[in-house]
Amino acid sequence: MRDFAERVQFIQRQDPEVADLLIREQERQELVIRLIASENYVSRAVMEATGSCLTNKYSEGYPGKRYYQGQEFVDKIELLAIERAKALFGAEHVNVQPYSGSPANLAAYYALAEPGDTILGMSLPHGGHLTHGWKVNFSARFYHAVQYPIRPDTCLIDYDEVARLAREHKPKIIVCGASAYPRIIDFTRFAEIAHEVGASLVADIAHIAGLVVAGVHPSPVPVADVVTTTTHKSLRGPRGAIILCRAQYAKSIDTAVFPALQGGPHNHTTAAMAVAFREASTPAFKAYGRAIIENARTLAAELMSYGFTLVTGGTDNHLMLVDLSNKRIPGKPMARALEQAGIICNCNSVPFDTRPPFDPSGIRLGVCAVTTRGFGPDEMRLIARWIHEVAEHHDDPARLASIRAAVRELCLAKPVPDVFV
Ligand SMILES: Cc1ncc(COP(=O)(O)O)c(C=O)c1O
Repeated sequence: MRDFAERVQFIQRQDPEVADLLIREQERQELVIRLIASENYVSRAVMEATGSCLTNKYSEGYPGKRYYQGQEFVDKIELLAIERAKALFGAEHVNVQPYSGSPANLAAYYALAEPGDTILGMSLPHGGHLTHGWKVNFSARFYHAVQYPIRPDTCLIDYDEVARLAREHKPKIIVCGASAYPRIIDFTRFAEIAHEVGASLVADIAHIAGLVVAGVHPSPVPVADVVTTTTHKSLRGPRGAIILCRAQYAKSIDTAVFPALQGGPHNHTTAAMAVAFREASTPAFKAYGRAIIENARTLAAELMSYGFTLVTGGTDNHLMLVDLSNKRIPGKPMARALEQAGIICNCNSVPFDTRPPFDPSGIRLGVCAVTTRGFGPDEMRLIARWIHEVAEHHDDPARLASIRAAVRELCLAKPVPDVFV
């Protein structure tokens, strides 16, 4: 913390109001247990690259073909990020310029389909992302979106139903990947379905990219036409996204990102991606991926031992969906009570939820951030016990405060490291 205060001294001198809020947010991130499945802690090196002089530079275009001068170092940095990402994922072509996951998906669709074409994606309440064709999103406004469900009996992806919908609607694109699906995704099966109906397969691995790189989840790269991912979730890089594709789609993906949809790339983010990709190529990152899986399984098993219902009965990846229908408290008040106890998560719809999306029945928990800070199975057992206590005593502020104090002690004992490799 003292270190961070030193680092913000320039902001403090110029803008104490913002500096104060930054210091408090830094302290919050260090002293609470962060279980939001899409969040992580980046290394100091990634953080420094993100806050570097590259934020000052404009670079519309691609390495060797820019519209502005002064690119000798920016070009090298972007090429490094591209080469590292290609090696990491075994991809033929990579574009590192998308500003984030949603624009990356937009670019993939732009490259592979025309407005009005049909896109078949996973429905949001069943675990898909907004950009996979949900009604309020561009993906349903610009395209004809058809949504596939999960099975009501198992809550697993219904591949037969995906195939049936694909045959019926003949989509131009099938999108697989999810924001709230706790099981392995069978990319090969999706590719077979896409192949049968002549659709392109887009795999959005925003949540699981780090697990794919670590070898603890199958990779879609050999079977999908285009793969998109954010870089800031399990991959533990800066806020941004990349698009991986076969060589045959390179030109259409690149022109979709620039000049069709974006302007100048965020070079500071590109540099931070290069740093993160190097970190992700190490044996330490593989160990990180294995630790995520072990932690998620432990947390899931412990929660079930306290009588919590987990969608699909557990997890294969970094996240789990807890259905609180059998508890006295639904998702939103539970997330709020957990926050009072120093445990941060998000409320989440569970499949076939009878409650509205803004006041749903469940919570979503993920272990990427806590695994980065060195928590292991012992800490997972403690966290499960605290979550149980919060569910039982959510209307007892003193009990929540005493859990919060214990959470703080644990966080102080296991500070977030600066270096991961
Ligand atoms: C599967 C998936 N795709 C795309 C995105 C969008 O990423 P962003 O928030 O960076 O636009 C998310 C975000 O959570 C996601 O879960």
